Amino acid sequence: MSGVDGRPQRLWPEEEDVVPILAPRRDRLASESATERRRPRPPRLTAADFTPERILRPSAQPPAHGWRRTLYAFSGGVVAIAPSAAELRRRELVAQVKTPIVGCRTVAFVSRKGGVGKTTTCLLVGHTFAAHRGDRVIALDANPDAGTLGHRLRRETTETLPRLLRDRQALRRYADIRAYTSQAPSRLEVVAGDERSEIGEALGRTDVGRAVALLERHFNLLCLDTAAGVLGSANQGVLGAADQIVVVSGGSLDTARAASATLDWLEDHGREELAASAVVVLNGIRSEGGAVDLDRIEEHFASRCRACIRIPWDRHLDTGAEVAPEQLRPETREAYLELAAAIARSFTEPAARRS
Ligand SMILES: Nc1ncnc2c1ncn2[C@@H]1O[C@H](COP(=O)(O)OP(=O)(O)OP(=O)(O)O)[C@@H](O)[C@H]1O
Ligand SMILES: [Mg+2]
Repeated sequence: MSGVDGRPQRLWPEEEDVVPILAPRRDRLASESATERRRPRPPRLTAADFTPERILRPSAQPPAHGWRRTLYAFSGGVVAIAPSAAELRRRELVAQVKTPIVGCRTVAFVSRKGGVGKTTTCLLVGHTFAAHRGDRVIALDANPDAGTLGHRLRRETTETLPRLLRDRQALRRYADIRAYTSQAPSRLEVVAGDERSEIGEALGRTDVGRAVALLERHFNLLCLDTAAGVLGSANQGVLGAADQIVVVSGGSLDTARAASATLDWLEDHGREELAASAVVVLNGIRSEGGAVDLDRIEEHFASRCRACIRIPWDRHLDTGAEVAPEQLRPETREAYLELAAAIARSFTEPAARRS
């Protein structure tokens, strides 16, 4: 079954639309906050907008999943059913995740409560960006006390952030830095923390600033994993270096209150922009639901920052061991894609002023 021009005949040729990216349909983007809708977006168009996702017609892209993919494969690519709404949505999110970054962006994953999933979220967001983008993405363990980021992927090196800082004067090229990072199959690079640091050597405010200053010369996107709280010296350095924050919360009342208190603290300390552009994550949400009305929590955060995204509880993440993103449930992968896209929506805006 071939068309006149030799291309496979499509059953719904009108579906061959270019995936929109800069002006996503509001009704489909349930996760976008009221704040984001209100804020005017200056059209900052540059030559970087000429990406294949925006300009080329997606007609050559075969269906990625499900019966459409099976039918496409069995017919040798002759029968190509139009993509489902979910597939179009996925393509739209992927295009957003690929939004070009001018220079480098630093995104910090913070919470005032421990154990809510900062490290896991930082790592998976890093994997998602690295897997879809062509530029360099790195995650950094800025936890001054036995951070666990380095345990969540196969280590290629025993080097750590304190050693990177110690040797920084001699590190001039990307190839020099690479000796201090471990790279996952997604292409995400990770600088691990040092579990054996003594209190006197613990990472401080200026150390984080120095690490960011070094890495932003070689990477386009820095994801900073942090310790719980905002008052510690290292976390003050993190907040000073961050262009954007992701506030991680669980789905319970106490963790949501702590997340909201983080935004209060930022607003009370002159970082209103950082609070308003934050993305809030409700992590580890179980499908069976509970007594907490998550919609109301989501409404609260959506009204005060950029977006609020739910990440489901996933058996593969629950082990606290090395993470292989391909072993996550499809819903979990989809949620991380939503989260990365929400973060990437800020990439077209000027970076928040760092303190
Ligand atoms: N979505 C999820 N589904 C299932 N388990 C999860 C999920 N997110 C995190 N976990 C698990 O919860 C535990 C705590 O997560 P994580 O280490 O990311 O929290 P944290 O906020 O970084 O903790 P800390 O404050 O100690 O640094 C880990 O064992 C992790 O694997
Ligand atoms: Mg952690």
